[in-house]
Amino acid sequence: MRLLAGRVEYEVWEKIGPVNRDILLQKGADADGLLVTLSDRIDDELLSLCPNLKVVGNYAVGYDNIDVEAATRRGVLVTNTPDVLTNATADIAFLLILASARRMVEANEFLRSGDWVTWHPNLLLGADVSEAVLGIVGMGKIGQAVARRAKGFDMEILYVNRSPKPEIERILGAKRVSLEELLVKSDFVSLHCPLSDETRGLIGVKELRSMKKAAFLINTSRGPVVDQKALFKACSEGWIGGAGLDVFDNEPVPLDEPLLTLKNVTTLPHLGSATIKAREGMARKAAENVLAALEGSRPENLVNPEAFKK
Ligand code: GLV
Ligand code: GLV
Repeated sequence: MRLLAGRVEYEVWEKIGPVNRDILLQKGADADGLLVTLSDRIDDELLSLCPNLKVVGNYAVGYDNIDVEAATRRGVLVTNTPDVLTNATADIAFLLILASARRMVEANEFLRSGDWVTWHPNLLLGADVSEAVLGIVGMGKIGQAVARRAKGFDMEILYVNRSPKPEIERILGAKRVSLEELLVKSDFVSLHCPLSDETRGLIGVKELRSMKKAAFLINTSRGPVVDQKALFKACSEGWIGGAGLDVFDNEPVPLDEPLLTLKNVTTLPHLGSATIKAREGMARKAAENVLAALEGSRPENLVNPEAFKK
């Protein structure tokens, strides 16, 4: 807001939660720009009712909440906030890997409920992260940051990505494989792909069935990349060891979601980028992108360059 002040007139939605749809439609009707979060759905209908709109600045790296095709068709620029949240999100993925493997949440509850009677050789045994096989689905910036962390744990790294990453292969010894091979061989499968038509439901019954019985699925990307019903079966019927989830089909995840009853599922409320530094960087980027677009120059983090006309 400090960056925006004096350069544009702006109104802020002060309440917790996404902007009320009617208000968004009403305010959008006059707006030249929108700065939104991933909880705000910017679809074709909304874009059609915002005739002055030049830019939608997303305060997130993922932008599946925005109909980019519709925006491009209408000449509306769409921007996101990459880079500044890479490390924070990779840290959360690793936190879920470690917490899942070593049963951290379960152990915390065990201690607090008074069940800790003695040190015991078999108490709450978990899986080793060190020297295990990590499968990374989506070797973009966040996937690469996870791979660097994995290297520190002497993990063997497999990955799936549309294009090979020779640097990552050379420096970290990562190996590019098919999704099938990755699922069969990995002790931890961590998802770092964007949500798109291609990745929706990428991990379903067949994929979960092919994973190792003791393997964990870690999702810090977007909920719908995984078939959540299938994941419940996989975790409750022992197809896999468990899951670590920062994202869900519906957020906030309803409290009657069956996954929340399972001890081998560790959950977080979409905190991937939730550090002070990352959020400050995202705020700065989102504001700078919107300002650039409104002032007629090309925003640094333009998602749809086709929509940019000089
Ligand atoms: C968070 O999920 C983001 O996409 O920035
Ligand atoms: C454990 O605390 C050990 O000393 O082995």
